[in-house]
Amino acid sequence: MTTWIMATRAQRLNPSTIREILKITERPGIISLAGGLPSADTFPVAAMQVATDRVLREQPREALQYAASEGYGPLREWVAADMAAQGLHVDASQVLITTGSQQGLDLVGKVLIDPGSRVAVESPTYLGALQAFAPYEAEFVAVQGDDEGPLPQALEAATGARFVYLLPNFQNPSGRCLSAARRVALAEKAAQLGLPVVEDNPYGDLWFDAPPPPPISATLGLQDGGGAIYLGSFSKVLAPGLRLGYVVAPKLLYPKLLQAKQAADLHTPGFNQRVVYEVIKDGFLRDHVPTIRALYKAQRDAMQTALATHFAGLNCRWKTPVGGMFFWVDLPAGLDATALLPQAVQAGMAYVPGAPFFTQGFAQGGRSNCLRLSFVTVSPDKINTGIAALAGVLRQNLTA
Ligand SMILES: Cc1ncc(COP(=O)(O)O)c(C=O)c1O
Repeated sequence: MTTWIMATRAQRLNPSTIREILKITERPGIISLAGGLPSADTFPVAAMQVATDRVLREQPREALQYAASEGYGPLREWVAADMAAQGLHVDASQVLITTGSQQGLDLVGKVLIDPGSRVAVESPTYLGALQAFAPYEAEFVAVQGDDEGPLPQALEAATGARFVYLLPNFQNPSGRCLSAARRVALAEKAAQLGLPVVEDNPYGDLWFDAPPPPPISATLGLQDGGGAIYLGSFSKVLAPGLRLGYVVAPKLLYPKLLQAKQAADLHTPGFNQRVVYEVIKDGFLRDHVPTIRALYKAQRDAMQTALATHFAGLNCRWKTPVGGMFFWVDLPAGLDATALLPQAVQAGMAYVPGAPFFTQGFAQGGRSNCLRLSFVTVSPDKINTGIAALAGVLRQNLTA
């Protein structure tokens, strides 16, 4: 009998709680406000069709051949120009096209984390980043925050960490967007502490009333010795099935990220990169993204109305998100969103409990009396029904 001995990192690979929950919630008849998926109604199917035809007609052999690990040149140029529009001046040679920004997180972990390295994260933070960094045997440090986001002063607890992972725009899971002042204060504190920043921005284009302030990386810089790495994605503005994201890195780090990528998958599908470039090269997103914003804003309004109606008197707290895809709801102390989920499913709806978005549980400010609700994939009618069902479950447990 063969004895397989797994690496320590394999023990740190955990099933995604959300994916496990999604399995339950995909049962017919359940109104799922749990998923983190964009609305499929926003996928630009016709434009993709035209671009796919053109790529196959005009550059079939190049598109189907192995390609450069760095990514497709014109797409890298496009990303650099898009970053410049956000106030971040980088060279296209600093752009690494990745297989979703999720791969970017993995590459960052691979290059920057040793066993026992400290990595600072927001509290709560994106669960997928915890999943990406944990196998490299990171020791997480939760940066304490207030309603406005992580506190600059709290970065002191992360002194000596390999980096702090920050999500300034419409954070997954909390939905909150950092003010310009908070961004600058965080950047200044990080620079003072010599603490590098990994900035993840998949939701920044999904604003409802006004664009978010410039990225933290714009203050820190992405030059040679720059203090930030920036991650972006096409998942929320085009389609996640394309698996297209990017890492923009200081020149010093770029070769190592590139080598890590070569080891992982040689390159991101060149076919997808060329098709996406065909779609976006003449300004398609300028017209397309506003349609996503309008849809998501109407959906956000539907959830806000449903919460205001059905949660009245329940003593829950939430802030209306000004972009992105999520509401984050704080329940009264004593209610445990993980424990209540089976009752919610029984009542016909699902959400994602908040606990997995905190690192190392309660010792670092983790909580279980909170949950995440997605407002983008379910119709306003069903949002209302789902929120009413959830309110019923909470009411029952508050009076029990
Ligand atoms: C904060 C955050 N970062 C990264 C990702 C990964 O996105 P993708 O790999 O599709 O670019 C997600 C996906 O939901 C996310 O919410």
